[in-house]
Amino acid sequence: MNAIQVLRKTIEFYRELGFEYLPLKSSALRNLAIGQTSESIPASVNPHQQVSEDTCSYQLNKEAVLDDLRNEIGDCRRCKLYKGRKNIVFGEGDPEADIMFIGEGPGRDEDLQARPFVGDAGKLLNNLILKLGLRRQDVYIANIVKCRPPNNRNPEEDEISICSPFVERQIAVIDPKVIVCLGKISAQVILRSKNAISKLRGNFFSYKHIPVMPTFHPAYLLRNPKDKWLTWEDMQKVLEKIK
Ligand code: URA
Repeated sequence: MNAIQVLRKTIEFYRELGFEYLPLKSSALRNLAIGQTSESIPASVNPHQQVSEDTCSYQLNKEAVLDDLRNEIGDCRRCKLYKGRKNIVFGEGDPEADIMFIGEGPGRDEDLQARPFVGDAGKLLNNLILKLGLRRQDVYIANIVKCRPPNNRNPEEDEISICSPFVERQIAVIDPKVIVCLGKISAQVILRSKNAISKLRGNFFSYKHIPVMPTFHPAYLLRNPKDKWLTWEDMQKVLEKIK
């Protein structure tokens, strides 16, 4: 590919990820034009080098794109949840993760620490991840809404429809082998379903060709420990899928 083709590919690439502008510093764009790479551009984006299309998308700097997305969210006031939040909880983990866990929205501890699943439900999730033979930093963890709903109520429809495009864009960047939806809200939003989590859990569905396993929310399992084995069964299927 020549410089123009690489630039076109870069624009298409970011557009597919939902960006309406090129989230690159002007210096990065200049480098792109003169054939030098920078940390926020895939290494293959070098106009003097002939690269295959595969190489170009393979060398995506997922971390940089996620940082761009976080910057785009900024000090978000797109919905009313900003009024009660202390912090935006963007999500964290390995941008190259095979498994992406998606919860509902931050609770009190998450709001205070700006990190997903760090309270009691988070401890249960951490244990589950460890039992799978993984570490928390090996997976990616995000939520449907990025700000804590007041008194931990369920996020409302307007809040979900404003915020969920961001988790969808996180999915597009991370492109995990499997998405695990934690609880009813996450499963219903990602799968555009109205079914109960008890009906959905344990079966694979598909989100844009990515297998999705809905399972119980860790907070539900804290209240109903007798159902933990069901989530364990669900996760065995996930392990099988990523092999
Ligand atoms: N519950 C969620 O759904 N997400 C969190 O981050 C914490 C608790």
